[in-house]
Amino acid sequence: MRIDIISVAPELIKSPFEHSIINRGIRKGLVEVHFHDLRKYAVNSYGKIDDYQFGGGAGMVLMVEPIDKCISQLRSERTYDEIIYMTPDAKVLDQQMANTLSLKENLMILCGHYKGVDQRVRELFITKEISIGDYVLSGGELGAAVLCDSIIRLIPGVIGDETSALSDSFQDGLLAPPVYTRPSDYKGHKVPDVLLSGNFPIIEEWRIDQAQERTKKIRPDLIKKNKK
Ligand code: ADE
Repeated sequence: MRIDIISVAPELIKSPFEHSIINRGIRKGLVEVHFHDLRKYAVNSYGKIDDYQFGGGAGMVLMVEPIDKCISQLRSERTYDEIIYMTPDAKVLDQQMANTLSLKENLMILCGHYKGVDQRVRELFITKEISIGDYVLSGGELGAAVLCDSIIRLIPGVIGDETSALSDSFQDGLLAPPVYTRPSDYKGHKVPDVLLSGNFPIIEEWRIDQAQERTKKIRPDLIKKNKK
């Protein structure tokens, strides 16, 4: 997979790709991530990429022209499965979206900034808009990092233990059950006996029960969503 990220602050987003599981995916050659500084496509030599909004109102808006130039340059080099815009006024990212995107070859992600992008960018180039939650961040960069992490860890070979990503919270529409490791007794706080029993069908049943209980208690909305 190849991911191209367009941003006015590419430095802000690089670090999550330099560590741990995501970096392992890159080092193994399973994913390539390229960062593009929108200012390189500015409309003048002062690096202008934004302007006041028509009709008045606070906040600068990213202009169509620099974004058009950057996206067109990338599109002339390869075909993109999706051109994604990170914005709070969009559908909220969920596991299903991450699963679907993890199967794609080429993704482009545009990070919004300031007051957002000129609406014509969304109409002309964007194929998918994604929010990472119902709150406003100062830009789309952190959202793009979250999105990329959720996708890259699903690419076969990125996570060492293949079954691990499938047993994550949300993969079956439920929160994950509790997990324990050594010691089995920590200052009198014991690991549930069933996990030490060696009886794997019973352990699996216990995990499903726990996942259902947790979901009912913490995220009852997920249960309703799955019933639909
Ligand atoms: N940009 C600003 N807020 C955002 C959010 N919640 N999700 C994605 N991009 C954003």
